[in-house]
Amino acid sequence: MEPVELNPDDLAMPSTNTGNPLKEFILEGVLRRLNLTSYNRLASLQKHLAALLAEREESAKKVWSLHREIDKLELEKVRLETYIFWLEHYFKHPLTATNSAVGQTPDEMVKIIGQQLAEPNWLAPVAALLLELYRDSGDHVLDFLTSIYRQALDEHTAYWDVRKSVHILGQVLQARTYLEIGTRMGWSLAQAFRANPDVHAYSFDMWVPDYSGSQGSTEFVRGKMQQAVSPGKTPHVEFISGNSHDTLPDFFAGKLDVKPPPEFDVIVVDGDHSALGAWWDLTDVIPHIRVGGALVFDDIELTEELGHEYTTSIHPRPDAPPNMRNLVDVWRILQEHYPNFHYFTCETYSARAGVAIRMS
Ligand SMILES: C[S@@+](CC[C@H](N)C(=O)[O-])C[C@H]1O[C@@H](n2cnc3c(N)ncnc32)[C@H](O)[C@@H]1O
Repeated sequence: MEPVELNPDDLAMPSTNTGNPLKEFILEGVLRRLNLTSYNRLASLQKHLAALLAEREESAKKVWSLHREIDKLELEKVRLETYIFWLEHYFKHPLTATNSAVGQTPDEMVKIIGQQLAEPNWLAPVAALLLELYRDSGDHVLDFLTSIYRQALDEHTAYWDVRKSVHILGQVLQARTYLEIGTRMGWSLAQAFRANPDVHAYSFDMWVPDYSGSQGSTEFVRGKMQQAVSPGKTPHVEFISGNSHDTLPDFFAGKLDVKPPPEFDVIVVDGDHSALGAWWDLTDVIPHIRVGGALVFDDIELTEELGHEYTTSIHPRPDAPPNMRNLVDVWRILQEHYPNFHYFTCETYSARAGVAIRMS
C-alpha cells in the first residue's frame, strides 16, 4: 500500500465542514475515530503499515523458500536412505568376479552370463553406484529407475537394464574396450568404469538438450567417471560428440582424430531410439564386437516411431528392413540377421535391455 501524499499545511487537526468531502471523510471517519491529532501522525502510521506489509511479503517469500528447502532435504533423505539400503544389501550379498567368463568355452561363457543377468542381487552394486554419484543431481529418472530395481529385487525377478548389463559384462568379460552410443549423465558409462577402472571407453553422444529432463556434457561426465574409478586413477574416456549416424562411420573408417581399437569387448546402443536410427547404429557397430564380446541394446520394449529429427546422416544409409516399425521389431530382426550371436532378452518391467554375445 502506497502512503497518501499529504499537504504540509494540514499539520494540525482542522475543524470539520471544509467543503471537501474527501478531507471531511479523513477528518471524521479516520483521524477522529483513531483518536489522531494530525495528518502527519496518519502518514507515519501509513508508512509503518506499508513497511509491515512489505515485511510480511518478505517473510512469506522466506517461508516459501524454506518449504522448498524442506522438500529438497526430504528428497535427499529418501535418496540417502535408498543409497544406504542398496549398500547394505550389497555388503550382505557380495558379488565378486569369481564368475569370470574369460578363458571359458563359448557355451560355458553364455551359461555364466545368462545366470548373472538373471541374478537380482547385481542390482545392488549398480544402484549403489548410481546413488553414490548422482543422488544430488536432481534427476527424477533416477528415482523411477531405482524403484524398478527395488521391485525387481523384492519380487526376485530376472530383470536387467543397460546399467546392470554393463556392470555384469564389464566384470565377467573383464572388458578393456567399451563403446557406448548414448551417454547422457554417464549412468551406464560409470558401470563400465566401476567394473574395470582400466577400461578404454568411447562415448558417442550429440548431447540433445534436456534429454528425459536432464542432460550431461563431456566435462560433467568426465568428472563423474573420475569419481567412479579409484582416487589416483585417470579414467580413459574419449568423447565423440555429434550425431552417431555421422560420427560412427567416420570413426570406424579412421577419419576422426580419435582412432578405434581393433575390436571392442562391449558395445552399448542407447542413443537414437527410433527404429531406423537404432538399426543404423546396431549395424554400424556389430562388426566391431570381438568374438566372445557383447552387445547391449537398451529399451527393447519401446514402440517409438520409425525415424525422427535426428535420424539423418551425411552418409548413404540402408532403408529399414520390411516390417520394422519399433525397437521390439529391431531386436527381433537383429536376431534373424545376426545368427552368430547368442541373445538374452529381458522380459520384465520397463527400461529393459537385450544382450547379445558374439559366438563366431
Ligand atoms: C537414453 S539416453 C542414454 C542413457 C545412458 N546410456 C544411461 O545409462 O543413462 C540417450 C542419449 O542418446 C543421445 N542421442 C540421441 N540420439 C542421438 C544420435 N543420433 N546421436 C548421438 N547421440 C544421440 C541423447 O543425447 C541422450 O544423451
